[in-house]
Amino acid sequence: MDVSPRKPPGPCAVVIFGATGDLTKRKLFPAFCNLARDGLLPKDFALVGFGRNDMSSAAFQKHMGESLAAYATDCSLVGECKRLVDTASYLKGQYDNAQSYAALKAFLDKTGKEHNTGGNILFYLSVPPELFEPIVRQLGEAGMLDEKDGWRRVIIEKPFGHDLESARALDQALKHHAKERQYFRIDHYLGKETVQNVLAFRFANGIIEPIWRNHFIDNVQITVAEELGVESRAGYYDQTGAVRDMVPNHLLQLVAMLAMEPPASLAAEAVRDEKSKLLSSVRVGRPGEGAAAYVRGQYDGYRQENEVKADSDTETFSALELRIENWRWAGVPFYLRTGKRMARRVTTVVVEFKAAPHVIFPTAAPVNLLKIHIQPDEGIALRLGAKVPGPQMRLAPVEMAFTYGDYFGSKPHTGYETLIYDALLGDTTLFQRADTIELGWRIVQPFLDNPPPLTAYAQKSWGPKEADALLAKEGRHWHSLDGRPQEKAP
Ligand code: BG6
Repeated sequence: MDVSPRKPPGPCAVVIFGATGDLTKRKLFPAFCNLARDGLLPKDFALVGFGRNDMSSAAFQKHMGESLAAYATDCSLVGECKRLVDTASYLKGQYDNAQSYAALKAFLDKTGKEHNTGGNILFYLSVPPELFEPIVRQLGEAGMLDEKDGWRRVIIEKPFGHDLESARALDQALKHHAKERQYFRIDHYLGKETVQNVLAFRFANGIIEPIWRNHFIDNVQITVAEELGVESRAGYYDQTGAVRDMVPNHLLQLVAMLAMEPPASLAAEAVRDEKSKLLSSVRVGRPGEGAAAYVRGQYDGYRQENEVKADSDTETFSALELRIENWRWAGVPFYLRTGKRMARRVTTVVVEFKAAPHVIFPTAAPVNLLKIHIQPDEGIALRLGAKVPGPQMRLAPVEMAFTYGDYFGSKPHTGYETLIYDALLGDTTLFQRADTIELGWRIVQPFLDNPPPLTAYAQKSWGPKEADALLAKEGRHWHSLDGRPQEKAP
């Protein structure tokens, strides 16, 4: 992670595979535009789109401009952003065809000279996962991943594999063509400010670390709830399901940020080593508990969605209880739940602290909770007990809260800016290393092999009742995420 004042990276070209696709339109163009606006793209820069659609560079520029008008909330297509669009170019080609790559190579030689990009190239694979291997193989065979004439890097979107075995096979295949440090496996959760802030919160504040352990923490609850259903992605989602889609990647990355030991520095390998160590001590449930620690749900009406099989067994919700087998976390359950068509869109971590060891009040004191609001109300709140004014000793919960918007204002961003910027600098800190991908799959694989039965849940709910039972069996419950972070005294 770059710790110096932010400066533009050195000269380079970026090639987006899947240049006319949905992700490019909604996230990548706006992210590049925001970087240009903030002066964080190289002075000598070229953006090249590559895809199967027949399109001229002028038509591509028009498409980019229209996408920005629709999806970039703060882009008026002036200044640096306009220059970015006006200099973008496009090449049509087939993803698994050697001639297309010979053409791409020639195109990049020419574009690189025109824009002084010094032979440095970032390839962004914004394509369906079955194309990752063919594209990297073709790039490798065309000599485009050799670093003789400048650096070469590849950003790979998720999902990286479909299970442990396919992730390993993909990794082996990629390693034939480039070195590990050339691969940037994206998990867009790591691009979120609030996720990165977990590092600052834990390691920049001396008062936090001493209590960040099983002596003080009772359990940790992570919710990633979405209001939307599968929308237009049912073709992908019905073969994937909530676990594969969210758990080995986004949720376990969150767990790693929350639970890893302090790294020696912010250097990429120092952080990645700690995450890897943490993930290797994670298991689902207590020993011998097996599938009882895992709940699968499907929202009512899912099977009637377009492109979903009428008897689909795919889960749209999952809840798991994780255990981390090390000194810091032994005995502290980490409860995870994620799903579509839930009560509201919210990603929040709730850290529940243990009660005071001795109670001197006539009534129970409110439970201390630390809520890390990842999205949409980005911020952190600490719930404490306080005396309600009046002659009696009555206690009520109060919250000390900070929100990003209030303190720092908020510039529109997609979450991809930091990740792209870091890749341009060659900084891999916020990207997944091959071993952490494998560890993620290893944790969920037993449940992919032997899934428990599906249970139904109502749309706009917090999931099936079995997810409540997961905590209730140990006398716990999910803390409410309804309403705004700030809570009022009764
Ligand atoms: C993606 C999943 O990785 O993350 C989607 O494939 C999901 O199914 C999305 O909707 C959630 O991302 P965010 O940033 O909206 O929480």
